[in-house]
Amino acid sequence: MMNSIILSLAVIPSILALPNPHKTSPAHAPIPTIWVAGDSTTAPDGGHNGTEGWGQYLKYSFGSNAFINNSAYAGRSARSFTREGRFERIAEALHPGDWVVIEFGINDGGTPLNGSTSTTGDKGRADCPGAGDETCTVVYDNATEVVKTFPAYVEAASKTFLKKGAAGIVISEQLPNNVWEGGVYARTPSIFSYYDLLSVEQLGGPAANVYFVQHGSYAAQAQKLLGKDVVDANYPFDHTHTAPLLADVHSQAFVLGLKCGTSPLADLVINATARIEANIGPCLPANDTLPI
Ligand SMILES: *[C@@H]1O[C@H](CO)[C@@H](O)[C@H](O)[C@H]1NC(C)=O
Ligand SMILES: *[C@@H]1O[C@H](CO)[C@@H](O)[C@H](O)[C@H]1NC(C)=O
Ligand SMILES: *[C@@H]1O[C@H](CO)[C@@H](O)[C@H](O)[C@H]1NC(C)=O
Ligand SMILES: *[C@@H]1O[C@H](CO)[C@@H](O)[C@H](O)[C@H]1NC(C)=O
Ligand SMILES: *[C@@H]1O[C@H](CO)[C@@H](O)[C@H](O)[C@H]1NC(C)=O
Ligand SMILES: *[C@@H]1O[C@H](CO)[C@@H](O)[C@H](O)[C@H]1NC(C)=O
Repeated sequence: MMNSIILSLAVIPSILALPNPHKTSPAHAPIPTIWVAGDSTTAPDGGHNGTEGWGQYLKYSFGSNAFINNSAYAGRSARSFTREGRFERIAEALHPGDWVVIEFGINDGGTPLNGSTSTTGDKGRADCPGAGDETCTVVYDNATEVVKTFPAYVEAASKTFLKKGAAGIVISEQLPNNVWEGGVYARTPSIFSYYDLLSVEQLGGPAANVYFVQHGSYAAQAQKLLGKDVVDANYPFDHTHTAPLLADVHSQAFVLGLKCGTSPLADLVINATARIEANIGPCLPANDTLPI
């Protein structure tokens, strides 16, 4: 009893002294938030089927060095995330010094169709094909929508975050589907991997605090090492939505991608690179032209 009273009294001053995360004081740099934007493969509660998104496990690799806000949401593409104001809500809540991770692609394919609703046609998700300022005009949910390209959405959001003082942006490659679904290991990056790279370059790359993480490649490597049986067992419904174990592995794959690059966000990771490599595979070959 006496001990616990002494303990509680001793704890009070340290609670009072906890740094307010968003107030800079001379003694403590604020603890940044890492905002995560994405779809069901990243989101809390995954695809709402007992599956989970990888963003939920990111906190285990940052300890007390960062807060994580996983704003990813099932069924979203870069287009619908924009239309629904989800990037905007992150921008409103973002404080200078925070980071933003953006990962889309799973729901971005196809072409915009006239007359779609949230449950029919392209479901309001398909981006306009192309990598520049092309537009496609369609009626979605009875309203005219001028649909932009995938890079246009990702770059517009990134610019907004940087303008608000974000320390940096990580544009992260979409995850592969189950690389073992054909019986033997196979992986083909999607067009969105290329668009991600292009967006990073068009935004100025690492010199402008914008970084690329080859998340799909690191996740594929980790799935290859896990083997067919474990990977199959961790896609309980389909080839896209992961059970918690694989979502955690995908989170580690993202962190490895960060650690193998040049982003200062990697400095906030609590794990040693060699320890991560021992679990889920080595850093991938890279060169100076890759904006990692
Ligand atoms: C994450 O950020 C969003 C957007 O600002 C906010 O609505 C949500 O409550 C936050 N989530 C948590 C767990 O703080
Ligand atoms: C959708 O319909 C509008 C008006 O009828 C037309 O201008 C536009 O080209 C159509 N878009 C597509 C993608 O079919
Ligand atoms: C679109 O218009 C149809 C026909 O007028 C109507 O039944 C439907 O509720 C409208 N949908 C939305 C989302 O406004
Ligand atoms: C998710 O679960 C619901 C309800 O059990 C089911 O109808 C749906 O098909 C499932 N989705 C997937 C992708 O398996
Ligand atoms: C870092 O270490 C924590 C604690 O052991 C662990 O939960 C997390 O998965 C590790 N992260 C990586 C990327 O290995
Ligand atoms: C740099 O690495 C990328 C990815 O591995 C590769 O596609 C590219 O050809 C390499 N460039 C040079 C100049 O070696």
